[in-house]
Amino acid sequence: MGAINIIGAGLAGLSAAVTLAERGVPCRLISLQPSERAQSVLAEGGINAALDTMGEQDSPALHFEDTVKGGCDLADPNAVAALTEHAPETVRWLESLGVPFARSGGEIALRSFGGQRKKRTAYAQSSTGKMLMTALIDEARKYEAQGLIRRYSHHELIRLVISGGECRGAHVRDRITGLCAELPGRVILASGGMNGMFPSRTTGTVMNSGDVTATAFSQGVLLSSPEMIQFHPTTVGIPGKRCLVSEAARGEGGRLFIAKATGEKWYFMEEKYPELGNLSPRDVVSREMYFARRQEDTAGEVCLDMTGLSDDIWKNRLSDLREELIRYTGIDPKNTPVPVHEGIHYFMGGIDVDIRHRTNIPGLYAAGECCGQYHGANRLGGNSMLGAVYGGRTAAETAAEGFSPSQESEPAFAPLDDEPLLTPARESFNERLAVILTEALGIVRRADVLESAIGKVRALSEEAVCQREKLRCALALAMLRGALERRESRGAHYREDFPQRSDDFRRTTVARFEANDAVISFREIPERRAEQ
Ligand code: FUM
Repeated sequence: MGAINIIGAGLAGLSAAVTLAERGVPCRLISLQPSERAQSVLAEGGINAALDTMGEQDSPALHFEDTVKGGCDLADPNAVAALTEHAPETVRWLESLGVPFARSGGEIALRSFGGQRKKRTAYAQSSTGKMLMTALIDEARKYEAQGLIRRYSHHELIRLVISGGECRGAHVRDRITGLCAELPGRVILASGGMNGMFPSRTTGTVMNSGDVTATAFSQGVLLSSPEMIQFHPTTVGIPGKRCLVSEAARGEGGRLFIAKATGEKWYFMEEKYPELGNLSPRDVVSREMYFARRQEDTAGEVCLDMTGLSDDIWKNRLSDLREELIRYTGIDPKNTPVPVHEGIHYFMGGIDVDIRHRTNIPGLYAAGECCGQYHGANRLGGNSMLGAVYGGRTAAETAAEGFSPSQESEPAFAPLDDEPLLTPARESFNERLAVILTEALGIVRRADVLESAIGKVRALSEEAVCQREKLRCALALAMLRGALERRESRGAHYREDFPQRSDDFRRTTVARFEANDAVISFREIPERRAEQ
């Protein structure tokens, strides 16, 4: 049966699948891993919506303002308006599916999160992602039984089927049998961020390799803001990855300090940012930590001091975070400050989509972290799960418009004799690429380092032995060239050689694939329309 193909079964993909099924539209949910193992399960702190249940006179208009300001005026204001206005109904929908949000006085309780003036983050301890995913997986099962959602777990995208300028299907491979098939129908990409480009330096799963984004890019799909990479200020290193210490810890009263050479604790965020302090936007906190460590009169690491939090907070709001820290670091945060460091956490940029989640290729849509339009130069904590769920639902509604499922039989899976297309990237190749990217795309960037990195990636690309390696280099070049061309500092992109924000660059970076490289241009940011 003709159906809509969804690549990725995390929050965005599942939300899209359930939304299609609710409308009676069949879909295939195609993913490398089952939903239970998606990156979304790791999301901790919460999901934002101006529910105004804490008596603070919050509103979608204030949520809009905080999101646009947090993104340093680089997000599409019309997309942000749609996101923030629909946030309350999105969280209510999740509540109706049985997500066990924390309650206060019978209503959904909200906590403080970075860069926001009001309490607006709904949460379930600090395992909110797991709870959202559990509810959505359950809901999807109902539709799986009805045949409206068909799962293809352990399947990967080989390439999109694009003909006559339109996306007409997805060519996929079963990673267990090795057999391939062309699955006809419109395609929604919901494949997550590009964490796999930064193995062991990211809080995300490296299964989100960036390969889907790279494949789409190589087939003519535009990228936007590829240079905007978010560092989360509070992560701890564990073998193979960075472990997130949720921003919720600071939302509940955790404080950042660094020791002065005199031994005195310097609460630098509180001193420098009296309004938002420890809960300033992530780009600001990460940068301040980076510079605080480099001051002559400081010593050692920045620490997160959670020793002042009450027993009630530890028991009812952060018990899982405490357990995790004890398990992975041996430190009980209730008694001892935890040394923390910035870690790559989120990709604000990715596949370029419009407010209805359409890409530049008709028939192809994208949602969740693989695409970018809500977060500008820096995402606010709690807006990622919102963007994934709302974005997945919106992409599904758009893809369903005028779609009539046909009654063709399921395509047969068969061997595909195209070795370079199917070969995975070598770990050693990835690591060499990651070393170059980490040096050039850190918290502080500079033209000479970026130029040198571009040269190194182009040379590395010549050593690629398969398509995946070649395309990862092209994706890396989009990030590097975007960062080089943006000659200003804004949000997560801080240029030592251009430390000021410039109005000339209040434009979206757009990357186009050409000859295994990326060509960068800039696009005006639309004015906000009065009606939404
Ligand atoms: O710190 C956190 O809990 C992360 C949340 C987010 O990235 O939205």
